[in-house]
Amino acid sequence: MVTKLKALILSGGKGTRLRPLTFTTAKQLIPVANKPILGYVIDQTSQAGITDTGIIIAPETGEYVKDYVKDGSAWGINVTYMPQEPLGLAHAVKTARNFLEDEPFVMCLGDNLLGEGITGLVDKFNMEKLDALILLKEVENPGAFGVAVLDEKGNVIKLIEKPKEPPSNLALVGVYIFSSRIHEAIDRIKPSWRNELEITDAIQELINMGCNVKSEILNSWWLDTGKKDDILTANSIVLDEYIKNEIHGSVDNKSKVTGRVKIDRDSVVINSIIRGPAAIGRNAHIENSFIGPYTSIGDNTKIVDSSIEHCVILDNAQVRGIERLEDSLIGKDVKVLKNNSHKALKLMIGDYSEIEV
Ligand code: TTP
Repeated sequence: MVTKLKALILSGGKGTRLRPLTFTTAKQLIPVANKPILGYVIDQTSQAGITDTGIIIAPETGEYVKDYVKDGSAWGINVTYMPQEPLGLAHAVKTARNFLEDEPFVMCLGDNLLGEGITGLVDKFNMEKLDALILLKEVENPGAFGVAVLDEKGNVIKLIEKPKEPPSNLALVGVYIFSSRIHEAIDRIKPSWRNELEITDAIQELINMGCNVKSEILNSWWLDTGKKDDILTANSIVLDEYIKNEIHGSVDNKSKVTGRVKIDRDSVVINSIIRGPAAIGRNAHIENSFIGPYTSIGDNTKIVDSSIEHCVILDNAQVRGIERLEDSLIGKDVKVLKNNSHKALKLMIGDYSEIEV
């Protein structure tokens, strides 16, 4: 009999590396190609046929997550929200103990994107009657991740968190499927040096308990969107893969749109060049500007007399008179303006902002 899995999506955490954006939103809600990262994660769990979904939220940003996912009906799923202080991934599982009951479940990180779905992984877990199935990816810098050592049959025999001398180049990607035995393992582990209950320690404990722990190697891309440059990379890859030519707004005859570009309704493009892959949200105003490849521009934005390339610009932002804006992540309601009367910079910048001049 095939077991029906639940999903546990981790959308809590502190998001310190993405401040100041995470002061007013959850990092899992930062959009790539104008859609929140968490939306892609829920697409993948729902496409694997999982309806019963628990979402871990942080006390500070949980309301933003609820506002976006609501009751889950947009994906055809049922959602249970569980607030958690960020005390580690295994602590999140512990927090969800009542929701999970003794059912097997897939656990995904709400800020990680994968180039392929998880249906194959779910099938393998069910067929082989495993206690844990973890997704791994060959990486060039394994020392920065949790690393797995496999035997010749693909069983996981050891896990090491951020090893100084990595015994393999197989990093743990943030997707795991567990049987209810993970709860027993979590009860046996202690917090790590950073005072978190680590999921790698819990999986190691499962191995020590003699449980059946296997892995699958991911052949497509994997993106952990914890920092600004990761968001820009994710945006480029997702635009490249998913954007089709779809022009719902108006483009005047002095403008030129080349490559794959999506322009949502009520947006206007006047005397500008837009070179895809690029996405422009609803009710954007783009005038006398160049929007270069790998750029996403949110709803209600105004881009005037500017040139923008490889950027993510969130809703309600304005960019005016900026000769060249590159590799930038611009938050909601931000204004980036050229000051013609002064050579000096004039700034009003939120805490933890970063500016390169
Ligand atoms: P991380 O990116 O490792 O942690 P963080 O959100 O605290 O980020 P930062 O280092 O920038 O402060 O977390 C990975 C994912 O898991 C992310 O989506 C947040 C989520 N998470 C929880 O839901 N609960 C937790 O206790 C932790 C540590 C993370």
